[in-house]
Amino acid sequence: MTYKKFHVGIIGAGASGLVNLKWIKEKGHSGECWEMQTGIGGVYLSTYQQAQLTTTNLSTTFSDFSDGNESNPRMYMAFEYREYLKKYCEANNLGPHLNFRKKVLKVEKCPDSGKWSLHVECLESGEVTKHYYDKIIVCSGANTTKSVPCWPGQETFKGSIVHSADYDSPEPYRGKRVCLVGAGESGSDIAGLISNVASSCVMVKRGKHGHVVSRYQFPPRSVDPYKDRRPWPSDIDTNRSHYTLPRWVGPTIAAARGWGQKKKAGVIGSFVDAKISDINRLQNTHGFVIFGTKNESFVKAMIYSGLELKPSITKFEGQNVHFEDGTVFENCDAVVLNTGYRMFFPFLEGVVPEFCGCPDVRSLYKHSFHPDLGTDIMFSGFARPGFGALPPCSEMQARYISMLLSGERTLPPKDVMLKLTELEAEQELWQFQNAAKRVKGLVDYLIYM
Ligand SMILES: Cc1cc2nc3c(=O)[nH]c(=O)nc-3n(C[C@H](O)[C@H](O)[C@H](O)COP(=O)(O)OP(=O)(O)OC[C@H]3O[C@@H](n4cnc5c(N)ncnc54)[C@H](O)[C@@H]3O)c2cc1C
Ligand SMILES: NC(=O)c1ccc[n+]([C@@H]2O[C@H](COP(=O)([O-])OP(=O)(O)OC[C@H]3O[C@@H](n4cnc5c(N)ncnc54)[C@H](OP(=O)(O)O)[C@@H]3O)[C@@H](O)[C@H]2O)c1
Repeated sequence: MTYKKFHVGIIGAGASGLVNLKWIKEKGHSGECWEMQTGIGGVYLSTYQQAQLTTTNLSTTFSDFSDGNESNPRMYMAFEYREYLKKYCEANNLGPHLNFRKKVLKVEKCPDSGKWSLHVECLESGEVTKHYYDKIIVCSGANTTKSVPCWPGQETFKGSIVHSADYDSPEPYRGKRVCLVGAGESGSDIAGLISNVASSCVMVKRGKHGHVVSRYQFPPRSVDPYKDRRPWPSDIDTNRSHYTLPRWVGPTIAAARGWGQKKKAGVIGSFVDAKISDINRLQNTHGFVIFGTKNESFVKAMIYSGLELKPSITKFEGQNVHFEDGTVFENCDAVVLNTGYRMFFPFLEGVVPEFCGCPDVRSLYKHSFHPDLGTDIMFSGFARPGFGALPPCSEMQARYISMLLSGERTLPPKDVMLKLTELEAEQELWQFQNAAKRVKGLVDYLIYM
């Protein structure tokens, strides 16, 4: 089939940018990736030391590029996943198309040629250059702009307040009294790391956090029953059976499973499993409707390091932090905000001003296509599964985008796209409840894929 070849500009060289570049090239188009960091990897390049994924190589690697370790499923450390992405770039010869320390400031439509220009700032020299493309793919990541709350009296607090995006290692917190805010995966991981060294540690858990699932299950088992038994990653232990059941049976099944988990924990003596079961039961979460906090680090910290849970902060009074239940954490030295991220596309201000500030990617068809922009400016990396890994969702988007550009598929007409998008958004909001309002990218992995 002959079709027009497009020149495509890609913003970001994380997992999503790389897989889009690969598929653009695969279909014979040309592309360039602009990345403001010093290398590939996106959040996995900038995140804290000791960061470990909550999804295994089986569920996180791309479908056409194995790491050769399917029989030994495990969760990469961030640097190992970066190594995987590096090999993916080498295997697909992406290197020549990547530009680092280059920040995209603005996307603009050229009135004469109809092309799109990217205004790119070189972060070394400050020089701004323009680059022209037929199509743009935005892969700037859902976790690049910090969400930073503040409270009354915060100005009187003289300790450090750091967001998890700027947290690197637990060392600065050794011997300190630390208040951690937020109980998502950053919160859980960082609670596990800091509570080992802090003199005292509390964690603010506002409302429900995700349904807690430990990274690995206990006792260990094996893919091959004749081999040594190994830790079994929880993300492999999902199945489709609950899709055949009405969602309302979720709480009943979850209660039964929780009871079973607690019994098993008692028999095998796993305090952590027993505590996880209590926590999930108390907040009434289950894998049927809510998204997951897929690591148990904060639960271990509660059991082994005395981490205490607190409700929302009401105010700061000097070094004292006050909570909704009237309790106070006195002489606090440091606060770590594990309060997540918000999406932000400042470079789109001139194109879709209403979409650049605090965009709802649920208004995009398949979390990727703006109804007014179609295939001109597309988005990839903004479907985050409640359970399951994000990069394969980006791979699916990348393959679809490359097929659209090659004429093998066409987008539905605008009115159909709008209707489908509305229906899918409704389903996601119903399934993920409050979590969906804050985490705009949340999707159900199996339904999305
Ligand atoms: C600590 C941590 C652990 C995680 N662990 C998991 C996990 O176990 N499993 C999982 O599936 N997901 C995990 N995630 C989610 C994770 O964000 C995705 O897996 C993955 O990073 C998405 O890749 P991406 O390319 O879409 O976005 P990113 O990795 O965020 O990459 C976006 C890139 O775009 C660049 N960029 C942004 N704006 C511009 C601009 N204007 N100009 C130039 N470049 C720009 C950024 O510098 C960045 O490098 C984790 C996230 C965090 C923060
Ligand atoms: N090891 C890993 O794999 C790993 C590690 C870190 C991050 N991640 C991924 O990175 C992404 C971001 O994770 P994240 O944990 O940084 O963010 P997150 O999932 O958005 O969680 C943020 C947490 O902060 C809470 N919060 C927000 N504002 C608050 C406030 N004012 N007061 C009290 N609590 C507040 C939220 O509570 P509410 O729910 O009540 O709003 C939530 O518990 C996710 O995709 C996650 O899966 C993965």
